[in-house]
Amino acid sequence: MQTLRTAAEAAQAARRLARPLALVPTMGALHAGHLALVEAARRDCAAVMATIFVNPLQFGPTEDFSRYPRAFAEDTRQLEAAGVDLLFAPSVEEMYPPGFDTNIDPGAIATRYEGALRPGHFRGVATVCAKLFAIAGAECAYFGAKDAQQVAVLRQMVRDLALPTDIVVVPTVRDSDGLALSSRNAYLHPAERAAAPGLYRALQAMSDAVMRGETNRDRIVAAGRAHIAGPLREAYLDVVDPSTFEPLANIGSRSGPDVVTAIGSAWLGETRLIDNLALNVPAAAERADLHASVT
Ligand code: PAF
Repeated sequence: MQTLRTAAEAAQAARRLARPLALVPTMGALHAGHLALVEAARRDCAAVMATIFVNPLQFGPTEDFSRYPRAFAEDTRQLEAAGVDLLFAPSVEEMYPPGFDTNIDPGAIATRYEGALRPGHFRGVATVCAKLFAIAGAECAYFGAKDAQQVAVLRQMVRDLALPTDIVVVPTVRDSDGLALSSRNAYLHPAERAAAPGLYRALQAMSDAVMRGETNRDRIVAAGRAHIAGPLREAYLDVVDPSTFEPLANIGSRSGPDVVTAIGSAWLGETRLIDNLALNVPAAAERADLHASVT
């Protein structure tokens, strides 16, 4: 695996790699979720370029940019073992040199949920991804399903700007108790870690409600809320259209999507977890059967 620090060198090296080329952007502190992205990229494409860059633009002034976990030597070892061909690991000055002044503003989709709690976050994500896409010139870029709103923002950016990179989404990797893997799980104290799977259980309860034929958003959210207990504090729970992240008042309406996303976020101390589950909405006829079988 070749490791390069400048955009010019990385762009040149990427153009010499076999096609199709996959890009796996990361902020490092790698876990099995990142390695699943590399594995999917290797399966689909002839060559894989990964990036490690803790992007200051996507952190708010009071957020964890300076204490975000950094483990470059171990990350490099893992990426090499996973079969990555090229690693681009730039400095902040390389990505944002003096005079850098162009940002991508992702619009309405970036104002809800994560966007509301982290103003400017998706602007930073979209800007860095657009730049990484331009440097890599890859046919595909791989992202984890855990960050569902990030995926929706990036899909909208690619569509709106006609960028020649397809967004590929890889299923969330979970610990055995259901907690979605995240680099920020390292912040959790033992008691917080023990409570953390409550968020996944909340999403499962929302999923169960939908599968039982429940269509009312408030009742679906209430089913999830029952599991946000103890040290877990709700930041949000909702059911949204996965492509717009608009809340859905009535799931399964004729004009609504067939697949919806139950989204959730909860605080544990200073750490905020996010997670989501994609739900296939039972068709109206199926819902009538479900209703008949429970009444
Ligand atoms: O999901 C992440 O790790 C980051 O948001 C990304 C996509 C690497 C951009 O910095």
